[in-house]
Amino acid sequence: MDFKLEIAGILAKCVDMEIEEIANILEVPPSADMGDYAFPCFRLAKVFRKAPPLIAAELVEKIEKPDFIKEVKVVGAYVNFFTEKSVYVKEVLVPVIEKGAEYGNDTVGNGKTIVIDYSSPNIAKPFHVGHLRSTVIGNAIYNIYQKLGYDCVGVNHLGDWGTQFGKLIVAYKNWGSEEAVKTEGISELMRIYVKFHDEAENNHSLDDEARAWFVKMQEGDEEALTLWKWFYDISIQEFERVYKMLGVKFDSYAGESFYNDKMDAVVQELKDKNLLVESQGAMIVDLTEENMAPCLIIRKDGGTLYATRDITAALYRKNTYDFDKCIYLTALDQNLHFAQWFKVIEKMGYDWSKDLVHVPFGLVSLESGKLSTRKGNVVLMENLLNEAISETLKIINDKNPDLPDKETVAKQVGIGAVIFNDLYNNRIKDVVFSWSRMLNFDGETGPYVQYTHARACSVLKKAGYEKATDVDFGMLTDAASVEVCKLIEKYPAKIADAAAKFEPSILTRHLVDIAQAFNKFYHDNAILTSDEETKKARLAVVYAVKEVISAGLAILGINSPEQM
Ligand code: ARG
Repeated sequence: MDFKLEIAGILAKCVDMEIEEIANILEVPPSADMGDYAFPCFRLAKVFRKAPPLIAAELVEKIEKPDFIKEVKVVGAYVNFFTEKSVYVKEVLVPVIEKGAEYGNDTVGNGKTIVIDYSSPNIAKPFHVGHLRSTVIGNAIYNIYQKLGYDCVGVNHLGDWGTQFGKLIVAYKNWGSEEAVKTEGISELMRIYVKFHDEAENNHSLDDEARAWFVKMQEGDEEALTLWKWFYDISIQEFERVYKMLGVKFDSYAGESFYNDKMDAVVQELKDKNLLVESQGAMIVDLTEENMAPCLIIRKDGGTLYATRDITAALYRKNTYDFDKCIYLTALDQNLHFAQWFKVIEKMGYDWSKDLVHVPFGLVSLESGKLSTRKGNVVLMENLLNEAISETLKIINDKNPDLPDKETVAKQVGIGAVIFNDLYNNRIKDVVFSWSRMLNFDGETGPYVQYTHARACSVLKKAGYEKATDVDFGMLTDAASVEVCKLIEKYPAKIADAAAKFEPSILTRHLVDIAQAFNKFYHDNAILTSDEETKKARLAVVYAVKEVISAGLAILGINSPEQM
């Protein structure tokens, strides 16, 4: 039962407005003692040529009160509705108890495909915390859209092609050894990559050499490609270890190199459409009219660019998946890059350029400052996650040393804390890593929400709870119970909002709200000691909260241990 729509239906019989329109302007009063829904009468003043409070008073007289409404009254210029709490609570809780994790599933996305380009680290450069954000936000958005019924295609657009490989080959030849790369893997690649940048600062010919090697790669030179493939395999292994820890999967690993044999046709198409112009030896698409710097398509030395591959990839994805939207998760310093090539797609005459969405996010910093691959000041993802786990294990050993299977719980909580910390704020804000803050069990953190879930599990277990919907909902009309229900009722709308704004933090914060409301409910209401009927009703609230929190955390990519 959708209370808003029901109330809009009642009002529609009294005023000359569509139900949808009324539902859109219905408000929630600032405090619960003023009612649950409020209909503002300001707009009607013109039609009726009367003061809004007068209109409100007349409306109250006309309204036929159904069973689920306890009272309708005038509050200033509003008609306020008080729902019959027992009916309301029942209408909210029963679907959750029946559907469990499926509560809030929607069909709006059925038949539509959304391609999500996330994580996309650069091979041969380390997977550092900067890529964590793309991975975690992208994964959450994937799950959010899936919940709404969309077909999601998760693409890891690996940076597996480009001049950095030229640099790496030069670095390897000058300062590397097969032995060291074999034993040290990616950290050795990183060491020589950093070395390259240090040396190149004083020796610019190194950059020329690197470009030359990249051109060789493009021409299919065997030595160059063998080294490339080797670096590729080493990197992928490391990435997959991290993805496994994070519980993240992809439907496609088609990275930049996948488009090598597809770019010629696109360059030709750009020529045919008279979009390519020569500029200082390079080929560009001019974007002066759009007030943007030109989009570089082919370098002076013949090499293709990041944008060339993105344009090619977009055309490929449109053909392959016929997406409704294709979204890209990267840090906001790539804003211009996306704006430029989206324009190129538009200029090529593809009206679906409007379905390409860049979803930017802020930087990650450790308390010690910005992270950069070049300077070597990078923290590898894997080390960071391991640190989260060991920090969590310390806390568990301190607070609950007898907890069974501590290692697993420490993983779920430690990694969950990192993910939650990333998804808690508006994505455009920078994220700072602070163990003390993100592992605070009493703060607005992952562990806090997980702990609330574990507490609910423990109550249900102690009670020997069995799912039931035939409870006396009249026992749940106290403020704390109703508040929990109000938040649960909003959960589906929060997911829809998170999808529309590509903003998982909307869901993250709502889960914190639910956890806080639940803890107040738990504090205010004795559950296990109350009489059978009350206990049964209160357990229904506990169960619903447990289900919503674990399903909500799963959408964010976070596990919910039953004990902590
Ligand atoms: N590899 C790029 C980076 O690490 C991100 C790629 C994002 N996806 C894309 N289609 N451009 O900065």
